Amino acid sequence: MNRLTLGIETSCDETSAAVLRGMRDLRSCVIATQIPIHQKYGGVVPEIASRNHILSILPVIEQALHEADAALADVDQIAVTYGPGLVGALLVGVSAAKALSFALGVPLIGVNHLEGHIFANFLADKELAPPFMALVVSGGHTALVDVADYETFRQMGQTRDDAAGEAFDKVARVMGLPYPGGPEIDRLAHAGDPEAVDFPRALAQEGNYEFSFSGLKSAVLNYINSETMKGHELCREDIAASFQAAVVEVLVHKAFEAIRAAGRDTLVLAGGVAANASLEMRLRTEAEAAGIRFLYPPLRLCTDNAAMIACRGAYQAAAGRYSDLHLNAVPGLSFA
Ligand code: KG4
Ligand code: ZN
Repeated sequence: MNRLTLGIETSCDETSAAVLRGMRDLRSCVIATQIPIHQKYGGVVPEIASRNHILSILPVIEQALHEADAALADVDQIAVTYGPGLVGALLVGVSAAKALSFALGVPLIGVNHLEGHIFANFLADKELAPPFMALVVSGGHTALVDVADYETFRQMGQTRDDAAGEAFDKVARVMGLPYPGGPEIDRLAHAGDPEAVDFPRALAQEGNYEFSFSGLKSAVLNYINSETMKGHELCREDIAASFQAAVVEVLVHKAFEAIRAAGRDTLVLAGGVAANASLEMRLRTEAEAAGIRFLYPPLRLCTDNAAMIACRGAYQAAAGRYSDLHLNAVPGLSFA
């Protein structure tokens, strides 16, 4: 029960390692972010990400063990993200985990990154237990997932095109804001009017749990172009607030429809966009009104980290779901 899990995460632009005791007792989590490196390109450059993961992976693992006051010999099992993500980035973590598993003679556990985001909530709330509805909103994914138990996930709907975080990043880029755009838009939106521009809300039909954000992104681009051509001065705060309102409204509406349809009483938020202040506030307000329990992880557990991967891995191991040394990166992995 009190096994020590070493978690490894390298799916995108954070190199992270974490040490977990048992299922929920996090002893350390080290994150080496590459954001400043990719910022000058306006987004993540896959090959540069892989190269930097190679540089960081062993020092980050060493640091995580050091902070947990543990040695490699104390590690009982190794959990690693094998997808979804950038293939070259994933392979660095998967290769390191396989090498350590082989050298130490301890089991290997391949973890789905999206399930990891949901499991961040178990680290934040020690009492949380399934069933519940999860709204997963990251840079690469937007999905409503019914979590029936620790090993059973039913995806109610996902995005047909851009993920919510991707839409934030693309709109920010059009507005000349640095990467990653989500936090920048969140910050600007505080000073703007969310009703200033009426941007479209896609797939609003009842019972439709799919999302689409690419039309919204184009609408923002068209608005900026037409206002510029008319010689009007652009209010960046209003554009940010109106765009954000369109994203948040759809996410909140569909999340509560899904939770009612599945008959759940708890909603958890997961993924990097969970850091968005307006999304968190709207979900909290709606949940209070509907008598639904609402949970979201603290900021450091919202964005990519190895703690959530270690936690997911520990539950998989408890269910006997190990991987072998044939484990490969699966860039397009979705929910089981
Ligand atoms: O989960 P995550 O760290 O990486 C993926 O697995 O994709 O999510 C990163 C995404 C980026 O698109 C980033 O812009 C977005 O989360 N994000 C935010 C905020 N903070 C991060 N989006 C909106 N508001 C925020 N405050
Ligand atoms: Zn992520």
